[in-house]
Amino acid sequence: MKRVIIGTAVLVLIVAIVAGQRLWQERQQVATAKAAIQKILDQDAGYTETLLKSDVDSESLSYKEVFDLCDKVLNARTDLLVQLRAINPGENVPVKEQAVAFLAAENDWTRAIKKYFEARSDVATKSAQIAERLLAMPEPAYSEIDAYVVRVNTGLDEIRTAADKLKNMAADASRHYGRVISAEVALSMASEGRGVRPSSFYLASKPKMDTSMARANEFATADMARMTEMKTKVEQRAELIKQNPSAKLRGPAPDPSLLRQGSVNLGRDLFSGTYGVCFSCHGPGGQGNGEAAGRFNPPPTDLTNPAALKYKSAGDRFRIIKYGVAGTVHGGLEKQLNDYQIASLVAYLRVLERN
Ligand code: HEC
Repeated sequence: MKRVIIGTAVLVLIVAIVAGQRLWQERQQVATAKAAIQKILDQDAGYTETLLKSDVDSESLSYKEVFDLCDKVLNARTDLLVQLRAINPGENVPVKEQAVAFLAAENDWTRAIKKYFEARSDVATKSAQIAERLLAMPEPAYSEIDAYVVRVNTGLDEIRTAADKLKNMAADASRHYGRVISAEVALSMASEGRGVRPSSFYLASKPKMDTSMARANEFATADMARMTEMKTKVEQRAELIKQNPSAKLRGPAPDPSLLRQGSVNLGRDLFSGTYGVCFSCHGPGGQGNGEAAGRFNPPPTDLTNPAALKYKSAGDRFRIIKYGVAGTVHGGLEKQLNDYQIASLVAYLRVLERN
């Protein structure tokens, strides 16, 4: 009987020791796991803080710097996720699951933030390109006006699309931010009393984030407004150019002193003489009845009829002869005639007009 009791006591003791050891081991494991999770969360907090700061101060960073930062944070956090998942796999480690969900939500948000900044950079680039397009063509020739307006409108459409995308991306980033906050709260609740210190700055940074996202809307709206204003200006200018026939003309206005040197006699010879071409369209007497006249639309002008003349100034006439009239058969004779000969033709046109 005594032996049985002793035997049982020894057995119980052994079981207790083994159980105690296992419990102690488990505790050790959990403590190690917790420490590892804590370390990962601390590291993650560093990355996140940098990113949040860069978002708020984004004006001081170039877009490339922001993209690089996002990529760096994404890579680093993905490494942390791998480490986190590798902690005592298959065992029930407290808060590990919530920590994984939190880091994953943060990564989704970081990707959304990158896309948001890409959209923002796109709007800025498009805007600059369009402004450049407009500047590259300060005074479009008459025949180019319509194409010019089309280009401006196309640019405006591009910006509208980019601005809409920016607004969508801002909304998307905000949504992801909300998910990070939920994951953060879940992690906090799971860590309660378990000795893991969760991050807590997402919730605290929410107002800043909201401001930053609201700026996206302002940014997109302001850019659209600027472009629309540009478009209106261009259209107004196009209308003005259309109403002003001189705008049809190519090349620069000639030096007035040059125009005074022309000879009427030389002009007459050039107009109707053997090496002149004017008469073939405008007629030998300038009445618009040259041999080739019937072939053209608009027809060659009757240069003797003041009511038919759109270009009265010597400068405009000089440009017509030298560079031609855009949108008509009137070619320029820049290569065939020198400035003195052209000035002489202009002088002769004055005589024709008076007759
Ligand atoms: C190929 C046919 C052709 C030839 C050659 C030609 N012209 Fe013309 N010209 C025209 C046509 C067509 C117009 C009308 C353009 C318009 O309506 O905008 C015109 C318009 C003009 C005008 C503007 C009239 C106005 O509206 O005030 C002048 C000036 C003129 N020509 C001068 C000349 C002179 C000078 C020459 C010779 C150096 C010449 N042209 C040779 C076809 C010709």
